[in-house]
Order: sequence, then C-alpha cells, then structure tokens
Amino acid sequence: MELSILYDRLRWEEKILAEEAKKLGVKVGLVDAKAHPLTLVGEDSFTNSIFGDVVLERCMSHIRGLYYAAVLERKKVVINSYNVLSLTTNKLLTTLALDKAGVPTPKTSVAFSLESALELADKMGYPLVIKPIIGSWGKMVACIRDRREAEALFETREMIHEPLQQIYYLQEYVQRPPRDIRAIVVGDEIIASIYRYQPEDDWRTNVARGGAAVLAKLEPGQEDIIIKAAKAVGEGVLGVDAMESERGLLVHEINGCVEFKGAASVSTINIPRKIVEYAIGKVKR
Ligand SMILES: Nc1ncnc2c1ncn2[C@@H]1O[C@H](COP(=O)(O)OP(=O)(O)O)[C@@H](O)[C@H]1O
Ligand SMILES: [Mg+2]
Repeated sequence: MELSILYDRLRWEEKILAEEAKKLGVKVGLVDAKAHPLTLVGEDSFTNSIFGDVVLERCMSHIRGLYYAAVLERKKVVINSYNVLSLTTNKLLTTLALDKAGVPTPKTSVAFSLESALELADKMGYPLVIKPIIGSWGKMVACIRDRREAEALFETREMIHEPLQQIYYLQEYVQRPPRDIRAIVVGDEIIASIYRYQPEDDWRTNVARGGAAVLAKLEPGQEDIIIKAAKAVGEGVLGVDAMESERGLLVHEINGCVEFKGAASVSTINIPRKIVEYAIGKVKR
C-alpha cells in the first residue's frame, strides 16, 4: 500500500499524516504540487510512479488543490474528490448545498455590484458579515456594523482587481457565544469536535487567529446536523464549522482540506491516524 500526500507548503498536519502512515506500515510519499506537472492529454510517464495507490490532497491553495484533484482523480483515488472540493472551496456553493440538504445555516444573500450590495445590506440590517467566497483563516471576513462601514468596505473591495471580491456574500451576524464548533468528520463519523474560543482582540474564532481549542461534547441533535452537513457536500475528510444560536446549530463552513492541529492538541483520538486509515480503506474496498 502506497499513500501520497499532496502539498504546496508543508504544515504540521502534512508531516504528522506522513508520520502516522509510516507507523501503520504504509509507504508514504510527500509530493509538492508546485513541482509536479500533470499530463491532461498525451503520453503520461510519471503519474503512476509518483502517486502510489491513494492521494491525500493537502494543498494550502484551495484552487491549486481543486484543479490538481480534478486531473489526478482520472487515474487515482484522491481524498477529497474534486466534487467535494468544488463545493467546500467555495462558500457560496457550500451555502447552497447545505440549504438544499435541509441543513440549518446562517441567512445569507449575494449581490453582484457595489450598488446592489449596499441596497441588500440595508435590507438585511446590521450587523452583517461579509466573506470572500473563497478563503480561509478568517482572512477578509469582516463584521459590518452600519451603512458607513458597508460603504467603506465595499468601495475598497471594488478597488481590488480580483473578480471574486466583487461577489458580495453577505450573512447575518449570528448571535452566538464567544466560540464556534469545529467537528472533524471522516467518512460518516465525527472523530473529534472542539469549541474554538475567540481571542480577546478578535471576534473570529479561527485557531490561525489565536482561537483557543477546548474539547467539545456535542449533543446527539448537534451531531446529526454535523453529519448531515458533511453528507451535503459528499464524503471524505472534512472540517465542519458551526455556531450555536437561538435557532440551534447553524453550519457556516465546511473545510475540504481541514487543519486539525487545534483539535489534536485537546483530543485523545489520533486524528491523523484515523485519516490515513480512512484513505487506505478507500483503496482496499
Ligand atoms: N455569520 C457569522 N456570525 C458570527 N460569526 C461568524 C459568522 N461567520 C463567521 N463567523 C466567525 O468568523 C470565523 C471565520 O468565518 P468562516 O466562515 O469560517 O471563514 P474562514 O473560511 O475564513 O474560516 C468563524 O469561525 C466564526 O468565528
Ligand atoms: Mg472557518
């Protein structure tokens, strides 16, 4: 059995996944997506030898990982699959998939110009949250408290010459405790869940921003929502993010390349081992 881990920057997660694979007696290779072109049409002399039986897609660049998976999965088992990644990479598509599957998710709307975004924001009411539809670590996720802030922020976005920034994905600000929930779902099982407490100087709870991980014990009803959310985007290794609200749990994001350092620091479950075992199981079946 041979497993490869596709990366573009080696984080703690990729290294620990490789270590755990080795401990399980699995031959493991770390493959830098930046250094390995793929053949779309024509003689392919390298794919088989480099990638082994199954590939864990772990690129930090969502877009790179997404398209690499698309090409690679013609020949290999890739986790997560292109279909899963295509939904998880994009918050707009994730929101649609969650709502379609009947998973509770924050009220969200989208506008496609500065003027209509301002109108929409006024109609939705403040405070509001705006997010880039592709992104992570809470980057450019902003809380807008009033019309003046909306104008300033939207005008700034207009100046950014990147078409995705002109898609105004606006969400209700969920009145939640100073924490959210990150559940790591592997296949149809929640293998670990944590609360992420927001740091004193930020309203966002991302561990990358200083959010503090505390082990969470979810209620069965909450677990059902998490599993349903994971199913809504397909199946694989997923980080489901949710907030506690008066309306119960609201799922706001699903990560297709989940960082689990925070969860691993408090969980007694060997998270990387579970992920490797799942990947291997996908080939054996
Ligand atoms: N609608 C919201 N209401 C309140 N807090 C939110 C809302 N959306 C996001 N947050 C906070 O901001 C963080 C980052 O948002 P998220 O949608 O997960 O984007 P990212 O992909 O950058 O992690 C969340 O973990 C949560 O703490
Ligand atoms: Mg998130």
